[in-house]
Amino acid sequence: MLRSRITGTGSSLPEKILTNSDLELMVETSDEWITSRTGIKQRRIASEGQFTSTFAVEASRRALEMSGIKAEELDLIILGTVTPDFPFPATACIVQHEIGAVNAAAFDLSAACSGFIYGLSIADKYIRTGEARKVLVIGAEVLSRVVDWTDRNTCILFGDGSGAAVIEACEGDTGLLSTHIFSNGSYWNTLYQPGCGNRNPATNRSVIDDRLCFIKMEGNDVFKHAVRAMEEAACTALAANGMTPSDVSLLIPHQANLRIIDATAKRLGITEEERLFVNLHNYGNTSSASIPISLDEANRSGRMKPGDIVLLDAFGGGFTYGSALMRW
Ligand code: ACO
Repeated sequence: MLRSRITGTGSSLPEKILTNSDLELMVETSDEWITSRTGIKQRRIASEGQFTSTFAVEASRRALEMSGIKAEELDLIILGTVTPDFPFPATACIVQHEIGAVNAAAFDLSAACSGFIYGLSIADKYIRTGEARKVLVIGAEVLSRVVDWTDRNTCILFGDGSGAAVIEACEGDTGLLSTHIFSNGSYWNTLYQPGCGNRNPATNRSVIDDRLCFIKMEGNDVFKHAVRAMEEAACTALAANGMTPSDVSLLIPHQANLRIIDATAKRLGITEEERLFVNLHNYGNTSSASIPISLDEANRSGRMKPGDIVLLDAFGGGFTYGSALMRW
């Protein structure tokens, strides 16, 4: 049976670290509040001259190197982001140029924190239908440039970085078993960037006076929906494959907030440290990059053994959510 399989992973993070103590000097908050409400201790922040494409290119090069394929062999590049270098062209095209993937089609997709799972789902369909054999899926963000650094409700949560994976056609029973993606647009304005699109174009008023080009979020609403949706996405993946949570060797959830991760893990009954991947204390919420960065760290540190069942589970603005189940 023709399947798709991840053959290489890579990630890239800015060197600059912003700790909770640094944030105490910027807004009225405390390390204790941030740690107890979110689990985040520090996040990485892009420096001047570093963009979403900077990290996407580096993560992609590392994933290609691990997979052992050349950039020219790629058929498709899919980049999930809500912070592209430009409204257009797609940041995926900049990555294509930088890595020399001259034979690939390249596009961005906007599914917020679910961007990588959405990308994986598309890659899997292209591969299973024989339309593509080698696909690069990337999640990359520089959220620090759309965060309102005067808003303590949001500025403590987010970080920058990128993760990438090379997906290749393969025969046999390892690889992606299924992907499921969902949306609930009723909540589109619960977590969003109101300005700098065409509804509220960039003007002195929208950008400077009304601060519309920064992330706005109803934190409590997001929290409630995130837990329910991530449980639903995970259970759908398991049911579709005749599995139960006890079959899962490693759950890699979107790294938004430790309380969301813990509540989801508890509902699923996957709470043991060795079966639950967490790194958000180091990076905060990097949106579409959080799952591929985690996947790369889990891969390089040997957390996944051949034959392990790995479950990826995401939720984000839109709302969008989704899961991917694979046999490693
Ligand atoms: N430092 C100190 N106090 C703060 C801070 C802060 N950084 N931020 C908010 N507060 C205050 C509030 O003003 C409020 O004060 P008040 O009672 O005087 O009004 C109090 O703390 C409690 O605020 P809540 O919003 O009720 O705090 P809550 O416990 O809900 O935690 C949080 C807020 C962390 C945002 C939580 O709702 C959450 O995690 N939501 C999910 C949001 C999320 O993860 N979004 C990421 C993007 S979506 C995704 O990736 C899935």
